[in-house]
Amino acid sequence: MNLLIQDAGRYYREHFGEPNIIVRSPGRINLIGEHTDYNDGFALPASIDNAVYVSIGARTDDQIHLFSVDYKEFYKGNTATIEISLQSWANYILAIVDVLQKAGYNCGGFNAVVRGDIPIGAGLSSSAAVECATIFALNELFGFKLDRMTMVKMAQQAENEFIGVRCGIMDQFASMFGKPDQVIELDCRSLDYTYFPFESAEYELLLINSRVKHSLADSEYNLRRLDCEAGVAHLQRFHPNIKSLRDATPEIVKQELHLLDKKIVQRCLYVVEEIARVQEACEDLKRGDFISFGKKMFITHKGLSELYNVSCPELDFLVNAAAAHKDVIGARMMGGGFGGCTLNLVKKEALAEFIDRVSETYLETYGVLPGAYPVTIEGGTAVVGPAK
Ligand code: GLA
Repeated sequence: MNLLIQDAGRYYREHFGEPNIIVRSPGRINLIGEHTDYNDGFALPASIDNAVYVSIGARTDDQIHLFSVDYKEFYKGNTATIEISLQSWANYILAIVDVLQKAGYNCGGFNAVVRGDIPIGAGLSSSAAVECATIFALNELFGFKLDRMTMVKMAQQAENEFIGVRCGIMDQFASMFGKPDQVIELDCRSLDYTYFPFESAEYELLLINSRVKHSLADSEYNLRRLDCEAGVAHLQRFHPNIKSLRDATPEIVKQELHLLDKKIVQRCLYVVEEIARVQEACEDLKRGDFISFGKKMFITHKGLSELYNVSCPELDFLVNAAAAHKDVIGARMMGGGFGGCTLNLVKKEALAEFIDRVSETYLETYGVLPGAYPVTIEGGTAVVGPAK
């Protein structure tokens, strides 16, 4: 059995007795469609093998006792006073209790142990994974009978309101709805979604971790949302039908936004172009045209770096290194930005050589060895225990 499930059970038994349930919720990649989710656009995420495991058991009082295996820390509190904790890992669990209780789903006291292997701050959505594992486990434990989409929305709300990051729905959705070997084309406006396989005999998806830790709670992420909202508010004066950037086109943005700050025009232009690009990119993948898909990844990166300004020198370095390698057909920064990983589309036979080369030059330039993880697409949130 997976060692992390074993750990989640073992530490629970050591500290609290027998758990009622162990839930796994994965991190995610996003092939294309970055910063489009909160603009009602499209994204193309998939859930990965790295995941968070939460073992939970009910208590007879109103106490919440938590243990993080990775931080080697306990948290103690109670369901009556849910407040932001200085132990940041505990906040993602508390955020879920808070959102459930505010919606009238009263949680009894519980114990929980958290164990995971999603690199933190790497743009792989470790926080969404903790939130999804927690809400799924509490839903089972207390019999709330919430469906998956409702849990996704509540987990997003928890992140927005308790944690204070105004994230879109993509991360929580991908963690909860992922399927093995499938990518998910998600329409973030209607929440319609389509699975299709990511299948290639020739190419592999590879994550390279810059090891620059980002913090989305840092105001920059929320500022990007405000810039998009400012753009929409301005466009609406001339086009009342525009409810979000999903409804605009590059032409409209260029025509109507010239009165505004150049920065806002650039942000909106990136988003509008990216929303259109995702749909074309999905067609590329369905046709098996990886070369065309890879080119779009590079274009997305340029937009994220030069127009949306969410990249950093280290990520640009990694993407440039990929672009300079003949067997890497696409690369871009992935997730919220300001650090974390690049996603690369690499010829299978060149994988090891590319990893060696990029690791060496990155180490020479930045004094750190980057992480390199070939991606495996695994299933979404599920009960995985208890089993001894
Ligand atoms: C973070 C957010 C997501 C999404 C991405 C950027 O991961 O949590 O909602 O906005 O950034 O695409």
